[in-house]
Amino acid sequence: MKHIIITGGAGFIGSHVVRLFVNKYPDYHIINVDKLTYAGNLANLKDIANAPNYTFVKGDICDLDFLLSLFATYPVDGVIHLAAESHVDRSIKDPFTFAQTNVMGTLALLQAAKNSWEKRADGYANKLFYHISTDEVYGALRFDDTLFTETTKYDPHSPYSASKASSDHFVRAFHDTYGMPVLVTNCSNNYGPYQFPEKLIPLFINNIRHGKSLPVYGKGENVRDWLFVEDHARAMDLIFHQGKVAETYNIGGFNEWTNIDLIKVLIKTVDRLLGNAVGTSDHLITHVTDRSGHDLRYAIDATKLKNELGWEPSLQFEEGIEKTVKWYLDHQDWMDNITSGAYEKYYQEMYKK
Ligand code: NAD
Ligand code: TYD
Repeated sequence: MKHIIITGGAGFIGSHVVRLFVNKYPDYHIINVDKLTYAGNLANLKDIANAPNYTFVKGDICDLDFLLSLFATYPVDGVIHLAAESHVDRSIKDPFTFAQTNVMGTLALLQAAKNSWEKRADGYANKLFYHISTDEVYGALRFDDTLFTETTKYDPHSPYSASKASSDHFVRAFHDTYGMPVLVTNCSNNYGPYQFPEKLIPLFINNIRHGKSLPVYGKGENVRDWLFVEDHARAMDLIFHQGKVAETYNIGGFNEWTNIDLIKVLIKTVDRLLGNAVGTSDHLITHVTDRSGHDLRYAIDATKLKNELGWEPSLQFEEGIEKTVKWYLDHQDWMDNITSGAYEKYYQEMYKK
């Protein structure tokens, strides 16, 4: 049996990856390591919580002693590292937490893996440290620029992207310095079920449902490249198993939208699914002060991944948005638990035992 640590598995993307691996690979033991910050929610994983090949361990990736004892408990073969502080607006208010978790946490995880793997009889053979990063490390494109490729120079602007860029460098440094087998992927904006409702799509779906205003930063002209989260998880599965060690792969949807156009699609879809007349919620759009240092455009060229490993997004955006809006409307209890903060108390009680 292979023992795979997935960090941040109680978060948005991590929960999809944990579910995919637990269900698809019964001969893997999936160890989900998550601190359960405000963004971690075990309700995201209710359906697989009792699977025989799944273990949840509450812990902080910044705590090296905890990580060393975890690696001493399980003969870990691979790490898929998603745990991070992930919201740009929070990073603007509190950059230190981002440096701590994203940089120091990644470094601690690398150090624990190194310490453990170098002591194993077969050393680094058949091991992999797979680091999940973002397209935001490449900086901002102008409207007429070509897409981000794997060789685009890093140029992060926000404390979030600066911390992710730094963690990417540490991962590559552990390969170059110690020979650790690593992989890095840089993905565009994800959307889909279980995303914390501080991010644009779930926040706006919930606000439209409740007739609350939709705070569009600036003119809403910024462009993001959106990928359905299950397509990202599928790409990660493929890369984890077939990616070339020390390589970087960009993952993206070839699906660019200005925020304002995307918001209009969301309004139409929510109104239609709620049985509201066309245009009912248009008045909710409210232009507010722009985000500081707001990157104009992100767009990923995922050609390398397509050519080398045959991956392509499986869903058309309209299909993905329809699925996503339906999911949030059908899971109001999930949303209410988060917005009321009740889930935090419930799960903290549960894991005290
Ligand atoms: P998220 O905020 O939904 O989840 C992050 C998870 O990490 C949470 O469960 C949280 O409890 C956990 N965590 C935070 N600090 C921790 C710590 N110190 N120790 C252990 N666990 C901790 O984030 P997400 O949107 O699912 O993103 C996951 C990863 O993917 C991140 O590394 C992010 O940078 C990257 N990424 C996200 C996107 C996106 O669109 N969401 C796009 C590209 C890359
Ligand atoms: P977000 O979901 O925070 O992702 P990121 O900043 O990582 O791209 O935001 C997506 C886009 O939506 C981004 O251009 C900022 C914008 N935005 C708003 O206009 N209003 C909002 O309330 C939020 C959360 C985001």
